[in-house]
Amino acid sequence: MPREKVTIPYLRDKRKKGQKITMLTCYDYPTALLQEKAEVDIILVGDSLAMTVLGYDSTLPATMDTMIEHARAVRRGAPGAFLIGDMPYMSYQVSIPKAIRNAGRFMAEAGCDAVKLEGGRNVAEVVAALTRATVPVMGHLGLTPQSVAQLGGFRAQGRDADNAMRVIEDARILEEAGAFAILLEAVPPEVGRLVTERAGIPIISIGAGPYCDGQLLIVHDMLGFFEAFTPKFVKKYADLNQVILEAFRAYIEDVRNGRFPQPEHCYPMKPSEVERLQALAERGEDKCTRLKNG
Ligand code: KIV
Repeated sequence: MPREKVTIPYLRDKRKKGQKITMLTCYDYPTALLQEKAEVDIILVGDSLAMTVLGYDSTLPATMDTMIEHARAVRRGAPGAFLIGDMPYMSYQVSIPKAIRNAGRFMAEAGCDAVKLEGGRNVAEVVAALTRATVPVMGHLGLTPQSVAQLGGFRAQGRDADNAMRVIEDARILEEAGAFAILLEAVPPEVGRLVTERAGIPIISIGAGPYCDGQLLIVHDMLGFFEAFTPKFVKKYADLNQVILEAFRAYIEDVRNGRFPQPEHCYPMKPSEVERLQALAERGEDKCTRLKNG
């Protein structure tokens, strides 16, 4: 039986009841099938795919076309999850009409339920315009990877009181602009707690401590499938790097030593057909030899 579709009212209800909201990133169909089976509430097709899947050293090279293609694959695998498309760099910063067109593509072409974009007061007008245009928006505060150049690297935010107050005020501004939820990345738990206590919408943490309404992890981080670096807030639930590396090495070893393939990996032929084939091949061989020898 397919599960009940996760919707904004369902997420609001979870928050009201004090039930934690679960969220993971996902970029492909087979992983989406498994996340759907595990019944994760929210799936984010994050522009982190530029780093985890495409091998860039930041999220900036992700394009709208790439994001849409991945979001469609994830939607096919996870019809019940609440699916959020991550607005890539410069897809919403240039102008409000461009932001609406790009957000609309996530909804209409990929079947997303909402979009996410990074920033606080600087994107409040965009959040309001998208909300008016019927696109639900999740805000993203704290460490915002698209601003990596301004932040001077992937660094925790809100670690002094002034900076923390700015994050708390930005959360209020985003909520007032119409955001249905906010993702809070890499801030101390005290900041996560204050933002959550003051908000009337779900606050999801990725490295913002335990007091938020829900938690997000990047799927490649939690599966141990990303080698470049591991943020402090990641808990590894598997070591796929090791599992996959061992499988590749075992395969290469088997092929080199003739242990693969075995008869059970081959398509059988009836003995009578093998005999006939041998006879035909011999005749064919004669023909070839005659042709070659003129
Ligand atoms: O792109 C992404 O996966 C994200 C996370 C870093 C929160 O935005």
